[in-house]
Amino acid sequence: MRSPPGHASWHAIKQAMMTADQLIDSLKLQAHPEGGYYRETYRSNEKGVFAAGERNLHTLIYFLLESTSFSAFHRIRSDESWCYHAGATCTVYVIHPDGTLETMKTGPSPENGDNFQIIIPANCWFAAEVEGANNFTLVSCGVAPGFDFSDFELATRDRLSKEFPQHTALIQSFTRN
Ligand code: GUN
Repeated sequence: MRSPPGHASWHAIKQAMMTADQLIDSLKLQAHPEGGYYRETYRSNEKGVFAAGERNLHTLIYFLLESTSFSAFHRIRSDESWCYHAGATCTVYVIHPDGTLETMKTGPSPENGDNFQIIIPANCWFAAEVEGANNFTLVSCGVAPGFDFSDFELATRDRLSKEFPQHTALIQSFTRN
């Protein structure tokens, strides 16, 4: 039932009280090589054969990112959907293969341009950061055909900025090696 005006919902109160550490612990998340924490929650039994080889049809993870860290530029060979669950606004920087930079936002405030769902197209380089200090974002990330570490590539600063010199400053900020 809808809460009366001015009456914070149980969900909003609970969400405000959960810390990143509590969520990492209770959701059993582990460190991801791109930054942040994750756990795979679903891998379909069904498989298909695609250009890269045999893959599960769909995979799903929880992904939690803190504002003290960032998700470094990486790319995968499938579209990736992000669905927002909790925390602050997260900005995702997407460099398309033609060099176009697209900025996507996921978070709690659609009235401020946040989206509850975003889609990062296959083969784009992307990186992410959480807005504000002492904040985090919790999302789910779905991949179809399913995620496989052999389809995952973490960018190196030199190579990516040689390919996209117009984005050197952004690439510098969102790579670790
Ligand atoms: N499983 C392991 N790493 C990842 C990732 O970066 N994205 C998705 N969707 N699944 C993963």
